[in-house]
Amino acid sequence: MRSVFSMAAVAGMALSSFVSAAPIESRDSPAFPLADGFPNPSHDQILAIQQRAGGTLPNAKPGPPVSQDGLISLRLIAFNELFEVAFFTELLTNLTNKVPGYDLGNGHQFILEAIEAVLAQEELHALNANGGLVGNHVDPILPCKYSFPVSNFKDAIALAATFTDVVLGTLQDVQFKFAASGDIGNVRGIGSVVGQEGEQEGFYRLLQTKVPSALPFLTTSVRDFAFTAIQGFVVPGSCPNIDTIKLNTFQPLNILSTLSAKSQTIEFTFDATKAGTDEYSTLKLVYINQQNNPILETITVIERDGNMVKASAYFPYSEFEMNGLTIAAIAKGNNFANADEVAADAIFGPGLIEIN
Ligand SMILES: *[C@@H]1O[C@H](CO)[C@@H](O)[C@H](O)[C@H]1NC(C)=O
Repeated sequence: MRSVFSMAAVAGMALSSFVSAAPIESRDSPAFPLADGFPNPSHDQILAIQQRAGGTLPNAKPGPPVSQDGLISLRLIAFNELFEVAFFTELLTNLTNKVPGYDLGNGHQFILEAIEAVLAQEELHALNANGGLVGNHVDPILPCKYSFPVSNFKDAIALAATFTDVVLGTLQDVQFKFAASGDIGNVRGIGSVVGQEGEQEGFYRLLQTKVPSALPFLTTSVRDFAFTAIQGFVVPGSCPNIDTIKLNTFQPLNILSTLSAKSQTIEFTFDATKAGTDEYSTLKLVYINQQNNPILETITVIERDGNMVKASAYFPYSEFEMNGLTIAAIAKGNNFANADEVAADAIFGPGLIEIN
């Protein structure tokens, strides 16, 4: 109890000591390969990464060949983990150099060491996924150039918490699809990463002085939503072999409202020319939260400005206790049994909403 309390106190102090944010700048960083050789570290470099990670790559013999659908999951995981490695490399650099917005004062060293471990762990996640691809005689996923819309520690941690929540939802889908395609040899390892990312999520939530465990049953997601969301942090055209990842990319859904823990109306925009219809009554704003049935809401157009439609819909927070991550999408139809069906008919999304 005592150590938890004092850690929260350290985190609280760290977060209240922010220097005001520098303006957001677009950067193509970090440069790969990293100083430690990633994504192609030598044997000795892997040993050093493992030391920083506090553990090793799995050393079990490779399992049976993975199905075509299983390869899609491995490619998505590699694509995601490369993005995470880029993010945490930059975050660690900012903390190490105490750039404006990243000098945490009291507790700085503790947080820096935690992020150093996370970075090495994410590198091993990426090496493991790409190793699975190479073991199946297909190309590994190569890193892109990235740009993160944050310039202070508080925003960086809020972003990390959001994309980690998307991962926690998407790995549920990956496990389901591995099992469905008979790739059962991969299910256990994914489970080990779900827990690992959950530990990270608890830390990021604690740093935001939120209750560490958000929900009894975490929000699910679908591979296409994660694939689209990650591309939001990629410099367009900079991914050498993203075309090998056969997943859908949706059109952007921009949530304008900052939501709080109450039922309310949310406003959002989308591009009319991408909707495929002018009959917006044939579309629904759909929310995916926890392990519940997708929630469908009517879209009300507020105004149209050129190609941009500004619209609103109800957000039933209180009716469904919609804490943690909610994934919003505009989909065609009026009956979706689960997140897969939402993704199959989605046009715009994912809008990522975090409450509490
Ligand atoms: C690191 O700091 C720079 C300069 O403020 C900023 O542009 C970048 O987005 C930051 N990256 C992360 C991951 O916090």
